[in-house]
Amino acid sequence: MIRANDNYSKLKASYLFSDIAKKVNEYQQQNPDVHIIRLGIGDVTRALAPAVIKGFHEGVDEMANDVTFRGYGPEQGYAFLREAIAKNDFQDRGADILPDEIFVSDGAKCDTGNFQELFAKDIKVAIPDPVYPAYLDTNVMAGRTGEYENGRYNGIVYMDCLKENNFLPNLPDEQVDLIYLCFPNNPTGSTATKKVLTAWVEYAKENHALILFDAAYESFIRDEALPKTIYEITGAKEVAVEFRSFSKTAGFTGTRCGFTVIPKDCMIYDSKGEKISLHAMWNRRHITKFNGVSYPVQKAAQAVYSEEGHAQVKSQIAYYLNNADIISKTIESFGFDYIGGKNSPYIWIDGAGRDSWDFFDLLLTKAGVVCTPGGGFGRCGKYYIRISAFNSLENVILAMDRLKEALK
Ligand code: MLT
Repeated sequence: MIRANDNYSKLKASYLFSDIAKKVNEYQQQNPDVHIIRLGIGDVTRALAPAVIKGFHEGVDEMANDVTFRGYGPEQGYAFLREAIAKNDFQDRGADILPDEIFVSDGAKCDTGNFQELFAKDIKVAIPDPVYPAYLDTNVMAGRTGEYENGRYNGIVYMDCLKENNFLPNLPDEQVDLIYLCFPNNPTGSTATKKVLTAWVEYAKENHALILFDAAYESFIRDEALPKTIYEITGAKEVAVEFRSFSKTAGFTGTRCGFTVIPKDCMIYDSKGEKISLHAMWNRRHITKFNGVSYPVQKAAQAVYSEEGHAQVKSQIAYYLNNADIISKTIESFGFDYIGGKNSPYIWIDGAGRDSWDFFDLLLTKAGVVCTPGGGFGRCGKYYIRISAFNSLENVILAMDRLKEALK
């Protein structure tokens, strides 16, 4: 008899953003005349930058000629892209990362979700609350949790991120083996200083733990004092893996490209306590389960690092950050407490005791504006909503005008 993986029955019926899309689509069907403004899922709206499109076209044209055509590429990514990443994103910031420590992939969601496959089932996993749901759900699927009770899975060490701790997870007071961190944070938009990350790196070293550091939003950091990569922290190469994405940095949500950095110094342990190279393990997994990102997409990603590409994507980020400023100012003018929006495209708003799904319904039905209910990111988000700055300036201004009316 073909039997199911019982762990799937522990999951909530649907993935957060699918639930929201369903609700929004139903509302739109019932109200076809409403112009809905989507500030929910962090999906970019601006066209790919001209330099990126040029790189993309060049890649496509090469595929149209027998002489330059490419079949299977290296699973880990073409050298031209890995070299550009290592130099621009790491070495130029003083982080000594080599091209062969970079694994190009189809995005950070897949990599952050798949990475847990490398670890034993009975490790202790620490996850912030609120959190990007893919980290948690994939550990549930793998059988690393018990049942879901009172908004939480048994067996997970939840790290509450609240106003009291500036939405920064505290170091766990029990020993954990795997730690998920995301900065600038999704969903709260909070950021971590070098001091904060240093404490985590030291914790991981002392406890032989591993940090999975999601830096998908690093390009939104405006404050020069903040670290853009965990490898700016001494010792991080031994205890941290970093996930990056071109999705939010350069508008690749529909194009798909990201990468994971696994320094060769990073070791984990087998059941006898012997060291194992994490780099070698992921490489084995990657070449078995993944056949590489398409050549034109990697050419497009390479163009992000050209002089013009860099300037163009920087101006796209500035555009979204300007939206974030407008949203933040409006929210502030209503007297709501919020965090984020400064070094992040997300604004995390305290609904002052209003349940997040009620707040979501109110904004949808009274203003035609879609946000993300904080409760979907965990118990600590129950009274928060997240507003994303990914939309056109015109739509953001219109959405804020509508919120002024709706929340009067
Ligand atoms: C979000 O809205 O949290 C993100 O867009 C989701 C994602 O990147 O998968």
